[in-house]
Amino acid sequence: MNQVVSLKIENRVASITISNPPVNSLGLAVREQLLAHLEKSENEADIEAIIIKGGGKTFPVGADIKEFKSDPKQPHLSYICSRIEQCQKPVVVAMHGMALGGGFEVALSAHFRIATPDTKLGLPEILLGLVPGAGGTQRLPRLAGVKASIDIISSGEPISAKTALDMNILDEIVEDLENGPQRFVKSILKRNLGCPRVRDLSKKILSVDHNKNLISIQRDKLDSKENILSAHYKILECLEAVSNLSFDEGLSFERNAFAELRANDQSKGMIHAFFAERQTLKIPQLLRAKPKHVQKLAVIGGGTMGSGIAISAMNAGLEVIMIERDMGSLERGKSSVFKAFERDVQKGRITESEKKALMERFVGATNYSTLEQVDLVIEAVYEEMEVKKEVFRTLDRAVPEHTVLASNTSYLDLDEIASSTKRPQNVIGLHFFSPANIMKLMEIVIHKAVSDETVATGFALAKKLKKVAVCAGNCDGFIGNRILSAYADVTSFMVEDGASPYEIDEAVKAFGYPMGPHQMFDLAGGDIGWANRKRKASSRDPNDRYVEISDRLCERGWFGQKTGRGFYRYFGDNRKGIEDPEVIRLIEVERDKKGIKPRKFTSEGIMRRYIAAMVNEAANVLGEGFAYRPSDIDVVKLFGYGFPRFRGGPMKYADTYGIEKIVEDIKLFSQEDSLFWRPSPLLLSLIKSGKNFDSLNERN
Ligand code: NAI
Repeated sequence: MNQVVSLKIENRVASITISNPPVNSLGLAVREQLLAHLEKSENEADIEAIIIKGGGKTFPVGADIKEFKSDPKQPHLSYICSRIEQCQKPVVVAMHGMALGGGFEVALSAHFRIATPDTKLGLPEILLGLVPGAGGTQRLPRLAGVKASIDIISSGEPISAKTALDMNILDEIVEDLENGPQRFVKSILKRNLGCPRVRDLSKKILSVDHNKNLISIQRDKLDSKENILSAHYKILECLEAVSNLSFDEGLSFERNAFAELRANDQSKGMIHAFFAERQTLKIPQLLRAKPKHVQKLAVIGGGTMGSGIAISAMNAGLEVIMIERDMGSLERGKSSVFKAFERDVQKGRITESEKKALMERFVGATNYSTLEQVDLVIEAVYEEMEVKKEVFRTLDRAVPEHTVLASNTSYLDLDEIASSTKRPQNVIGLHFFSPANIMKLMEIVIHKAVSDETVATGFALAKKLKKVAVCAGNCDGFIGNRILSAYADVTSFMVEDGASPYEIDEAVKAFGYPMGPHQMFDLAGGDIGWANRKRKASSRDPNDRYVEISDRLCERGWFGQKTGRGFYRYFGDNRKGIEDPEVIRLIEVERDKKGIKPRKFTSEGIMRRYIAAMVNEAANVLGEGFAYRPSDIDVVKLFGYGFPRFRGGPMKYADTYGIEKIVEDIKLFSQEDSLFWRPSPLLLSLIKSGKNFDSLNERN
């Protein structure tokens, strides 16, 4: 077996080092070897104390999440933590980097904890829909108190070493792990401090009544929020057990809570999302080619997207040149960038001098002569093919041959854009989401002529900008917007058939989205969709059902939040709109025109249609080869469109709900509109072969 834990004895002190790169996760081999070295050190008469630390960049950042796919093998981490705690010789855990999840739980079970100043400590299990499972909920409150533990465990956010010291979690902050641990050990041995066990501490434990009171206030807080995970309630139950039960009973309560959550769909969804996010990089182009170096970037167009992209790139340390049509537009673009950094200063995220340094990386211009040394250009001008092609033709002449030319188009054909240049292999789609400096998703759109090197460069840029990148094929709307069109259609059908936009928004929010589709249209601006509908009007099949309600809103200039009115009305700075009876009347007029008698939709009926349309179009995207694997589609919908993470994404949700049931729904709805509701061939073939979407995720 690979050696992943080593033992070194020096000055009668055993140093056990966990070296399981990249993040020292606590997989089976680590657990076995850690236990063996611990027992050996405990039994060796010569050894007076034991230090446990991480090799490389960090202390362990948690369990080996791959083991979550099946039942973990013994020795379990909870057993190792108990063995550390019961050890007859003082055990000091010395941390650096990150000490997260199981790593932090190992630390909590030691007799002493020290860390370097830059260490971050936390219990992020909630991000997988779980509670800590190796004593974290029982030991942390005995050190830091119940209230602080609720904050740490419920947020999943790591705390700094300084905070941990103030909270009584750490015994000392040491400058480095070279000499610090040895020196610390010497001092505890000299002072004869023995083996203080966290399980025996009672000072921070509240009385049963006090604790009950505290937990009940926290529970009320959860009740008042939307879409709270079962794990949030379980955390409170575990922390209530700290006062109600003995330590050992508390551990077993925690173990049962963990097992119960492991079996539910929420944690399965969140674990799926965790893996899906990491899977998107597994595409053949990235195996075949290395990225080009990118340090100097240009954006063409300084509107909503161009300025957001500039901010994102500057934050990542890149130099940015912004090109606009005229000085006025350039000033507006520059001012958007400047204001964003000004807000960062006001919020204390950066200092005034950091802002100054950031703005020094920015150059604005109204012609292309400044682009002689640029590595990558992102075009973000109007969504019109001719305007974009003209920009690409000009760029082709103005920038060096190796420069990558990217378009941020939402829908347009990348083959056509690329063919307007003499370097189609260097052209790519980099589809950011608005606001581009905040949204984490980037679709990397490939077309027929693109080279592997250009694709690799797109992915490398995404990494630099801390984006989650997904490879998408060149179809209308790529992955995300193409699927959005399908469920936006079905939303408009439901409105025309009798559901109010507000009922639909409520149903979608109850499913777990942060906002409903009409709130989203109002936020994004109705004019964008309107322009797209007009673009497609001439090619639309006259037999297709077309709902004109959104057009009626746009004709009145009701584009949503930016005009104070859309499906909702907005007053002042309040972004929470109120329902608008005039919109309801306008909808009734449209129904009357078509002679539609409105019918009632239940929330369940709304969601079945919404999801069936989404999954069916997603299956078409996948079946036609425009997405690499189902989990890539999940990532797009999770990071770009607000699909609830605890459901894992639409493809994972379809597997959980049952793809047979989705197809039954589609067949049922096709009685209302047989042209729109046609089951995707991929869905039918999966059912025929008894497979699900997950069976297609293994592509590497
Ligand atoms: P916008 O209208 O806010 O900005 C476009 C900017 O391009 C304007 O400032 C305009 O002056 C400038 N411009 C036009 N022609 C130019 C030229 N020849 N040379 C230099 N500058 C020129 O538009 P927005 O929203 O930023 O969209 C830009 C692109 O990004 C479009 O292709 C759009 O489909 C895409 N996109 C938009 C998203 C959004 O939510 N707004 C999301 C993702 C992509």
